[in-house]
Amino acid sequence: MAGFKGLAVPGPTNMPFQIRQAMDVALEDHRAPDFPEFTLPLFQDLKRIFKTTKGQVFIFPGSGTGGWESAIANTLSPGDRVLASVFGQFSYLWADLCERFGLEVDAVDVEWGKGVPLDVYEQRLAADKDHKIKAVLVCQNETATGVTSDIAGVRRILDDLGHPALLMVDGVSSIASIDFRMDEWGVDVAVSGSQKGFMLPTGLAIVGVSQKALETKKTAKLPQCFFDYGDMIKTNKDGYFPYTPAVTLLRGLRASIDMLEAEGLENVFARHNRLAEGVRKAVEAWGLKLCAQGPEWYSDTVSAIMVPEGFDANDVIKTAYYRYQLSLGAGLSKVAGKVFRIGHLGYLNELMVFSALGGVEMALRDAGIKFEAGSGVGAAVAHYSETAQALPLDKVA
Ligand SMILES: Cc1ncc(COP(=O)(O)O)c(C=O)c1O
Repeated sequence: MAGFKGLAVPGPTNMPFQIRQAMDVALEDHRAPDFPEFTLPLFQDLKRIFKTTKGQVFIFPGSGTGGWESAIANTLSPGDRVLASVFGQFSYLWADLCERFGLEVDAVDVEWGKGVPLDVYEQRLAADKDHKIKAVLVCQNETATGVTSDIAGVRRILDDLGHPALLMVDGVSSIASIDFRMDEWGVDVAVSGSQKGFMLPTGLAIVGVSQKALETKKTAKLPQCFFDYGDMIKTNKDGYFPYTPAVTLLRGLRASIDMLEAEGLENVFARHNRLAEGVRKAVEAWGLKLCAQGPEWYSDTVSAIMVPEGFDANDVIKTAYYRYQLSLGAGLSKVAGKVFRIGHLGYLNELMVFSALGGVEMALRDAGIKFEAGSGVGAAVAHYSETAQALPLDKVA
C-alpha cells in the first residue's frame, strides 16, 4: 500500500527522524571507560524533564508496567495499605499489580470518564489516624478514557492532613507531554515509559524517585531484584548500570531530551494543548461525546470518543485501519466497543492531526454514523488557524 501509515494511538507515538538517526548506531560497550561521559549528563538532564532537582531518575529496561512494579517493590512491605482509585484500565492495572504483590489495596471505584476523587481521598486519609496508608496512587493521565487528574490537589490534601504516605504518580502518558512537576507537587515516585511523550520505541521504564521514597526503601520488605533502586544508585553514580542497559534506546533518549528542551517544555505543553483542543472541537462538530465528563478532566494527550448507542466503536477502528491505514486506539475493558481513541501526543503537528481527523471521518461515514462530513476537520481548521497568531511567521517553529 502506498503512502505512510497513520499512527494515532496514544503510544507508541510517532518517532522523529532525529531520534531514529540517533539510534542508528553500532552497538556499544556499556562498560567502556568513556561510557559515563554519555550517561552522567543523561541522568542529570532527564531530571529537568521530571522537574526534580532533589530526586533521582532511574532508567530501567522495561515498560511502564515495570515502572509501577519498581515503585511498589522498593518502598512497601507485604500487607501495607495503599489508597488508589480506579477510573480506567491503567489505573485498574496498577491497583491490581499492588494486590498481586500482597498489598492491602483500598481502591476507590470511580465512574470511567472522571479522575481522581479528591473528596474521597481526603475522607479516607483523614480517617486514617494511625497512618496505616503507606502510599497514595494516582494515574495522572488515564489513557483508556482520556482523563487527566489533579496531582497538586492530592499533594495539598496530604499536606493539609499532615499525612506521611508516599505519593506515587503514573505519568506514563503525561510526563514530557503535559505539565508535571515532581518536586513542586511532592511526588515520591513518578513512573513513565519511553514510547509516549519521549517519542521513543517501547523498552524503557523511566522512574523519578524522591529522597523520601529512597529513605523508605531501607525498611521495605517486598522482594527487589531487577528493579532494585539500590543497585541502580550504586552503579549509576559512576555512569554504569547493574546489568546490560538498553544502550541504543539511551542514545534515542539523549536525542529526545535534546528535542524537548530545544522546543522548551512549556512550549511542548502548549502545543499539546492546542492540538488537543482542535481534536475536541472536531468531536463536538461531529456531534459525538468524549468519555471525559467535563473540561476539568480533558486530556491533552488522548481523546476517547464515544460512538452513538447501537454502533460498535470497533467497526470504526477496523475500517480506519484496513481501508485507510490509520491506527486508532481501541476501547479497553469496560469501554470496549463504546469508544475509539485518538492519541495526540509526542511528535505531532496540525497536519498530522488532520490525517487522523480525516481518517476518522471516513471511517465514521463507512460505519454509518451520521454526521456532516468535513465538519470535524473544518472545526479543527478554524481552531488552528485562529490560534496560529501566536506562532512565528519568520521561522519554522
Ligand atoms: C497511563 C498508563 N499507565 C501505564 C501503562 C502501562 O505501560 P506499558 O504498556 O508501557 O507497560 C500505560 C500504557 O499504555 C498507560 O497508558
